[in-house]
Amino acid sequence: MTSADGTGFDTLAIHAGQEPDPRTGAVNVPIYATSTYAQDGVGGLRSGYEYSRSGNPTRDALETLLAALEGGVRGLTFASGLAAEDCLLRTILAPGDHVVIPDDAYGGTYRLFAQVLGRWGVTFTPASMSDTDAVAAAVTPQTKALWCETPSNPLLGIADIAALAGVARAADVLFVVDNTFASPYLQQPLALGADVVVHSTTKYLGGHSDVVGGALVAAEAELGDRLAYHQNAMGAVPGPFDCFLVLRGIKTLGVRMDRSCATARLVATMLSQHDAVAEVLWPGLATHPGHEVAGRQMRDFGGMVSVRLAAGEQAAVDLCGALSVFTLGESLGGVESLVEHPARMTHASVSGSPLEVPADLVRLSIGLETADDLLDDLAKALG
Ligand SMILES: Cc1ncc(COP(=O)(O)O)c(C=O)c1O
Repeated sequence: MTSADGTGFDTLAIHAGQEPDPRTGAVNVPIYATSTYAQDGVGGLRSGYEYSRSGNPTRDALETLLAALEGGVRGLTFASGLAAEDCLLRTILAPGDHVVIPDDAYGGTYRLFAQVLGRWGVTFTPASMSDTDAVAAAVTPQTKALWCETPSNPLLGIADIAALAGVARAADVLFVVDNTFASPYLQQPLALGADVVVHSTTKYLGGHSDVVGGALVAAEAELGDRLAYHQNAMGAVPGPFDCFLVLRGIKTLGVRMDRSCATARLVATMLSQHDAVAEVLWPGLATHPGHEVAGRQMRDFGGMVSVRLAAGEQAAVDLCGALSVFTLGESLGGVESLVEHPARMTHASVSGSPLEVPADLVRLSIGLETADDLLDDLAKALG
């Protein structure tokens, strides 16, 4: 994957938006810890900055970098992934509008639609994003957007981005792709027809479990401008230190993803041969229903692996507690491997909804530890 001028992904990750500091030559973007900027006379801005909610050089560098990595025209960053989603939805929707959402969306995304935007008069229909016809059938005259997450959290469902872009175009609705699980290193939704990409930068982009953040990247300037207006008007911006952490994390995104994907393949293969495991959900397995589509639209199959335990819910909970190299905790995409029980943890908010996740499911985020240590940990914990 390269930029329009042929520059490789890893070169962009290290250099786009990150020219050495013009004053000192510092190779890293400085952390501009300032809320305001001195003016030379009223309205006399020295370099375009007036107040850090509206703009900050460290944040600008990250936003430029994200736009370059996703192949978009405008990147915007936020205090969390959900803040990014909220800004996007309240920019593009009005009361009475309808959205088609994944029937296996991240629990927090579902909660935003059901508990926040619902009260604001927005309706939604969950549909299986791996079934393009079902998505097209869920579109109504009130539909303004189609929201997709691929691979999905935590069921690792795969949606055909190019096919869904066709559905969105035919219905004249905005097409949003949450690219958090893949990262722009593995998948570039804008090139496949998406209008805007969403990220929780908390995950692979930050990559070290030390920051919470979110981002949007727009394919077109007009939408980018509207989002930028709302980013400032709504105000959920990240601080400069958080932006610096994400900038630093992104420099190693490619090498981290390569290692994580390679170890995920070993873990998925080992687990699929284990008697205690009823099903392994990882798009790299030939048996995964989305394997062919994922192979077409992703560079590799990702570092997230979910498993369903043959003995049911208690076995899933026990596995979470029995691992020692994997840390039991929410989130994903960091250097350390994490394990969690979605039904009781990250996806508790979809309990009792059409998006409820199976209670026998365990989600693994494969980090960068020595692969054999992770395999041994799983083998011992499964017994
Ligand atoms: C796919 C996906 N999208 C969005 C979010 C929300 O991001 P944040 O936790 O940074 O608000 C998450 C968080 O887990 C996620 O997994």
